[in-house]
Amino acid sequence: MAHRIVVTGYGPPADVLALVETEPPIPGPGHVIVETKAIGVNPADAKTVRGQMGADESKLPLPIGFEAAGVISAVGDGAAVPGGALGVGDRVIVYRAHGAYTDRLEADLTTVHPIPDDLDFEHAAGLLLVGVTAADTVRTADVGDDDVVLIHGGSGAVGVIAIQLARAAGATVIATAGPRNHDHLRSLGAIPVAYGDGLLDRVREAAPRPVTSVIDTTGTDEAIDTSLELVDNPGTIVSIAAFGRASDGIVLLNGSTPESRRHRTEAVDGLIADAATGDLVTEVAKTFPLADAAIALTELETSHPRGKFVLVP
Ligand SMILES: NC(=O)c1ccc[n+]([C@@H]2O[C@H](COP(=O)([O-])OP(=O)(O)OC[C@H]3O[C@@H](n4cnc5c(N)ncnc54)[C@H](OP(=O)(O)O)[C@@H]3O)[C@@H](O)[C@H]2O)c1
Repeated sequence: MAHRIVVTGYGPPADVLALVETEPPIPGPGHVIVETKAIGVNPADAKTVRGQMGADESKLPLPIGFEAAGVISAVGDGAAVPGGALGVGDRVIVYRAHGAYTDRLEADLTTVHPIPDDLDFEHAAGLLLVGVTAADTVRTADVGDDDVVLIHGGSGAVGVIAIQLARAAGATVIATAGPRNHDHLRSLGAIPVAYGDGLLDRVREAAPRPVTSVIDTTGTDEAIDTSLELVDNPGTIVSIAAFGRASDGIVLLNGSTPESRRHRTEAVDGLIADAATGDLVTEVAKTFPLADAAIALTELETSHPRGKFVLVP
């Protein structure tokens, strides 16, 4: 039998998630089955559970989870990729997955990406959702070596990758985080600044030159209000979370426009390659058994340690 976490109603994870047993999936044409070894946990999963991404009762019980890593255990008809086949036994990431919180994940081959030997399942499982998002922000902000970029939430899973991509593009990076994470941000080449009261003054003091663009991963009014004071053109503020501030003229990204989708698709191979060589630093904070998905999501919603949470079937 296979096992899967489903949402049985929209609300707090501890109240509405259930572990269910299902028949093992059989791969359809162009699909594979991946025996998952690690599953990435994301804030979007918690938002889905709470009904913040839509609360359609007709979708219940709803499978959740956007990414996982594991080993191909079965291949459907026509499941071959151009330039080389993937087959049973291959280590792969599935992104973007549908219902990744399972030990047997059916995936369209277009969403299956080989994992290099040097990348372990746990780091691979949490890499791509945040990685492609970070890449989209940096490309949309058109970051280059003349820029001074302010990144709100620089210690978050998206933020740490955005810092590294912006630094690789040659920019000076100022990044906000709680004080416990400042040394890590320095190690990535960013100038750390604490969020909270007085943020605008601290950024101005830290910046060697005026801020030219902003990447916001927090969605707070403090982050957006501070950013609007720092740049002349609100169109140079790119946010993945401040969807209530669209009327301020900032750029909001969620992968829904053709350009945003293209940025994300084009980033996948480089992220996997750089994570495998260690050129891209990512961290796994904590692993949880699949059955403890509700605990993982509840902890993720509070002030949690830096790095990704991963479920292990
Ligand atoms: N639109 C999209 O395409 C997209 C894609 C991916 C993610 N997202 C969203 O982006 C957000 C970040 O995701 P993530 O995975 O990076 O989350 P995460 O790993 O949980 O990071 C959260 C970050 O927020 C910081 N933070 C916590 N409280 C704060 C406060 N009061 N003010 C300012 N910063 C604060 C944390 O700093 P410390 O821990 O240092 O205190 C940390 O840097 C989530 O809302 C997620 O749903 C959107």
